[in-house]
Amino acid sequence: MSRFASTSLRALPRVSRPIASIPGRAFISSSVTTPASAAFAQQPQQSDSNSDAAIKSAAQWAEFGRDHVCHGLGRLRDHVVVKGDGLDLYTADGKKLLDFTAGIGVTNLGHCHPHVSKAAAAQVNELVHLQCSISFHAPYLQLIDKLIPAMPHESLDQFFFWNSGSEAIEAAIKVARQATGKQNMIVFSGAYHGRTMGSGALTRSKPIYTQGTGPLMPGVFSSAFPYWHQLGVAPSTSEEELVRLAEHQLDLILRQQVNPKDVAAIFIEPVQGEGGYVPVPPAFLRHLRQVCDKHGILLVIDEVQSGFFRTGSYFAIEQLVPELRPDILVFAKGVANGFPISGIASNKEIFSKLDVGSMGGTYSGNAVACAAGIAAQEVYQQGDIQKNVEVRSKQLFKYLNGLASGEKTKHLISQVRGMGLMAAMEFRNTSDKCTLEGVSSDTKIPKNIGKRVQEYCLNNDLMVLTTSAFDTIRFIPALTVTEEEIDRAMKIFVQAVENVAKEG
Ligand SMILES: Cc1ncc(COP(=O)(O)O)c(C=O)c1O
Repeated sequence: MSRFASTSLRALPRVSRPIASIPGRAFISSSVTTPASAAFAQQPQQSDSNSDAAIKSAAQWAEFGRDHVCHGLGRLRDHVVVKGDGLDLYTADGKKLLDFTAGIGVTNLGHCHPHVSKAAAAQVNELVHLQCSISFHAPYLQLIDKLIPAMPHESLDQFFFWNSGSEAIEAAIKVARQATGKQNMIVFSGAYHGRTMGSGALTRSKPIYTQGTGPLMPGVFSSAFPYWHQLGVAPSTSEEELVRLAEHQLDLILRQQVNPKDVAAIFIEPVQGEGGYVPVPPAFLRHLRQVCDKHGILLVIDEVQSGFFRTGSYFAIEQLVPELRPDILVFAKGVANGFPISGIASNKEIFSKLDVGSMGGTYSGNAVACAAGIAAQEVYQQGDIQKNVEVRSKQLFKYLNGLASGEKTKHLISQVRGMGLMAAMEFRNTSDKCTLEGVSSDTKIPKNIGKRVQEYCLNNDLMVLTTSAFDTIRFIPALTVTEEEIDRAMKIFVQAVENVAKEG
């Protein structure tokens, strides 16, 4: 008997729902069909006589996962997900979850967006893989053609694709070193650039990502991000003051720790993701550009999480400093709505310094992922996504700000922040004194607020994530999210925060 034959994922129960409305439909042209529709043919099976067996089978698969999936991988919940549609996830035991994680900012157009899935399915029958060092392939070139007009600066017209955000960061490190002939990098406290040995060395959001694995790539210096936590000041500190303090810290690094003439690149996220959804003040970005220009340092903008309309514009820097010229732009996640492709964009002068053959990778610029990326750009470039982010962001922030100013809940919340649909609420924490600004000393602050709020949401089938070393919950729904979905999610979230306030 084959050792693969004992159980099959096909044995998992299929869950379905009527195809009445697919979130995201409003964002595609009427000629686009829905390849996912066939999967909706069956009705949920909870009520049939096999339901007990089916539920057990899902539980068994979860048990199997706990037994065999790498222990080093954390999980919010042990659901076994069998289908995704828009913001809905369906589990093997018949649950429907409202997904406000979007695969951590990846499925910006919702799960299985029909236009993207159809393009990928069509590409599967044309060409799946052509290693990028063998020849050009059409989807690779067509994706570049779609991305050029989307770039935040006209100089960014040279591309290299890889598979993950971390790999794209590795590529940026290599390019920065080759192009400048220098080795050192500067990053910011709270930064997340990945978990591989090079990208992990640039990551400063939590030790868990690299602990026990050193020594990491040497030559990385960390300066303070202009965020009150990183500078030990109160949340109400003015942006001007935060920028002044952060500029001072960077200046000290360049005077005391590393000579700027030995620095290859400064890496920064325009909105720190794993650092707590903190947008960088525009004045600080402008300052970094000046420092880089003065010393021949490359400015690397990491838009892996903030790109592809997540913050309301194609790339976040367009809103922060419209004229900013990144030397290298790093992107991934939303580019192909879940198909694994990432990349860096730079200018001719920088890429011309690379040794031919130094860049590459077996799956780099996979044809199916490129086809999905082209289709995703077609949807982004229609304009409806951007409009939706604008209105849904206002709706979401209204709820969050309502809680932050509400009599029953304001003592729990230290800040609401973010851009577009990259939004966060940070809770007060008695062990982080700066979060206690504005509350009287006799106010009782409950412990582990964020974890308790998240737990309530997860128990009510709303998938939400925390972020950062601080007590923060983040919201990153698909950008196709509807008014009703925001209302539904926020009803659960508001109840969760109010419960913690009541229980104390
Ligand atoms: C800003 C940023 N850079 C890099 C990465 C690494 O991307 P990946 O997980 O695809 O390797 C991430 C992932 O969350 C990220 O948010």
